[in-house]
Amino acid sequence: MTMTLNNTPPSSTLGLPVAVISDYQHLVFDSSLDLDRAWALGIFYLKVPEGLDLNSAREFGRELAHAGSTYRNIPKYGDFEGFIALENNQQTKLALRRHRWDQHYPKAIAEFGRQLDDIGVIVISEVLRQAGIPESCWSQASGGYSSGGGTAFLNFVHYDTTHPDQGLRPHTDYGFVTILDVTKPGLQVEVEGAFIEVPVKPGHLAIHFGEALNFITRYSLRQVGAVVHRVVSQKSEDPVRHGIVYFANPALDGLVGQFNEHGELKGSSSVNDLFARLESELTEYR
Ligand SMILES: [Fe+2]
Repeated sequence: MTMTLNNTPPSSTLGLPVAVISDYQHLVFDSSLDLDRAWALGIFYLKVPEGLDLNSAREFGRELAHAGSTYRNIPKYGDFEGFIALENNQQTKLALRRHRWDQHYPKAIAEFGRQLDDIGVIVISEVLRQAGIPESCWSQASGGYSSGGGTAFLNFVHYDTTHPDQGLRPHTDYGFVTILDVTKPGLQVEVEGAFIEVPVKPGHLAIHFGEALNFITRYSLRQVGAVVHRVVSQKSEDPVRHGIVYFANPALDGLVGQFNEHGELKGSSSVNDLFARLESELTEYR
């Protein structure tokens, strides 16, 4: 596909549908039209649930931007975990999978991550419910994620403006669901071929759908799509852009399954193979 230039102003801004988490721990929209729109776009706002201490998590993220922060000494584990400064974009981040949170994050931050786990499970449960997939199949479909397993990343990102590059190139996320706390403008999503700004909405998180969710709903009553998104280049005169990013994923060494509404398994893939396929198919977005 043709990419617009990274700094092209978006043609308009996007009024995203808003969901809340109900007392029954369900994802609820104002109307079914709002849900339809969220599912069609692959992105929506979620009102920050009571008891989620976003301010402390933001404060922790801001500390990481200081060169002297000891958290910058956290070692790398493979390509995706640890303190990472990438060459091909402005992101500097501390990224850790769930099983390392207690070791490396302060207690309150590890707890914050587990609260995001709960939100992730609520979101994926609603997607699978809307898809008509029987609940008994959810855990197998999601590589354990919907039942509290799977893989989750809790990442703290900031944009290093001494590095005059693109913010984050257009891409889709590979996993199920991404939970974003964004406090500064710059995030854009592709809608009908054009990039549209996602306005910052105080008191709300942005939730978007990834490729693995698209994969597991393929034979269901309601397939969802992964949203293409980017972050425009941040300038040194801009306020420092911080973000908290949570990725809900299947167990990376496991399987994901494609069930239909009768609970019949129509297809499956190892997560390794699925992500490798996405990597080769989606290189235009990297
Ligand atoms: Fe992303």
